[in-house]
Amino acid sequence: MSKRINRVVFKDHPKSKVFLSPIEMGDVDRYYAWTNDHDVTRFLMIRFPTTRKQEETWCAGSAASAQLENIVLAIIEKKGGTHIGSIGLHRISWGNRSATTGAMIGDKRFWGAGYGSHAKVLLLKYAFDELGLHSIESRVAAFNGRSAAYNKKCGYLEVGRMPERTFRDGKFHDEIVMETRPTLFRPIWKSFEAGTFGPSKRKK
Ligand SMILES: CC(C)(COP(=O)(O)OP(=O)(O)OC[C@H]1O[C@@H](n2cnc3c(N)ncnc32)[C@H](O)[C@@H]1OP(=O)(O)O)[C@@H](O)C(=O)NCCC(=O)NCCS
Repeated sequence: MSKRINRVVFKDHPKSKVFLSPIEMGDVDRYYAWTNDHDVTRFLMIRFPTTRKQEETWCAGSAASAQLENIVLAIIEKKGGTHIGSIGLHRISWGNRSATTGAMIGDKRFWGAGYGSHAKVLLLKYAFDELGLHSIESRVAAFNGRSAAYNKKCGYLEVGRMPERTFRDGKFHDEIVMETRPTLFRPIWKSFEAGTFGPSKRKK
């Protein structure tokens, strides 16, 4: 479902394997496929089948304007120019200067190779240094070890746990609440700029 595409660059860095680009209407088919793929959605809030119309509406909303409470960006891997997923800031509270992050690499071939953490670092840099946000949360199902690991790598700490909060594959699982702030993110950005951030060389 992925294809080579030319995209506008919204956020990038020379050391990054990805750049972030605004959502476009041409992305609809990919989101339609990804949001109906149980391998992907078992890690997300999505429970029901999605329709092409819903994905058109979602892309149109995300593409229409920068929104006050949600900013969603497409993740484009640089080598092949492939649109592999999206990442966003949600429930932005300008008063508290807080937000929640969410991400989906829908193209499974790109899991566990550093694309998600590079996208997250670009997003956090934007959130802290351009939007002036101060506290960024992420909630992860306890069985999603890869998501907890990539958040940790990007500077998040576990700050709480909601017991039996997520029902998946016939069982209730804990939800891990993770959070990061500018002071936690600074050393991450430093290592990213220095090119020492990774991904790690170990086999996934
Ligand atoms: C979660 C997601 C965004 C992470 O992006 P990614 O590109 O796959 O992750 P990265 O390769 O950047 O980082 C993954 C880290 O977890 C580690 N990892 C990989 N698989 C793992 C596993 N099963 N358990 C624990 N750690 C794992 C990797 O080694 C890597 O850490 P390292 O670089 O220090 O070695 C992506 O996998 C995804 O979209 N998954 C499906 C949807 C989802 O889970 N969304 C998040 C919901 S909270």
